Amino acid sequence: MELVELLMVDHSDIRIIANNNLLQKNNAELIDFNKFLLNIHVNIEENIVFPLLKENNKDMIKLIDRLIADHKLIETLFNNLYKWKTSENPLFELRLPLFYKTLEDHNSREESDVFPLWKNIDNEDKIISMKNAYEIIESNDVDNYIKETGISRQMLKYIFI
Ligand SMILES: [Fe+2]
Ligand SMILES: [Fe+2]
Repeated sequence: MELVELLMVDHSDIRIIANNNLLQKNNAELIDFNKFLLNIHVNIEENIVFPLLKENNKDMIKLIDRLIADHKLIETLFNNLYKWKTSENPLFELRLPLFYKTLEDHNSREESDVFPLWKNIDNEDKIISMKNAYEIIESNDVDNYIKETGISRQMLKYIFI
């Protein structure tokens, strides 16, 4: 499996979470989702996938920088949501749809304009990328990653052999 394909599986799981409005459940659900999103998904994009794509496609630099700026915006939106949720502020329910929409638009842009260029990356770099991604997943909360994405331990084992 290609690393960007794993990221697209993450996006599918995020779509299910958004379509079922699962983040309105409780505070712990928010924390778990954010841990998966920032510490693993965004971490892999910013530290493994984006640098390689930028290096290989100089005309992608601007777009990728915009996607990195989106990550900051998504993080800020999340922090506000969490604050409102814990203080039972009605702004939480009001702004949650904007969070989902921002995140889903961002993911769609990655899938349509950025990830397809992964096809041009050398095989050797792709192998190193998989290794580095596995280290990021392993050094984080793997059980939480499995819970949030629905990806099984067996699948993780299979794709990272
Ligand atoms: Fe992203
Ligand atoms: Fe993404």
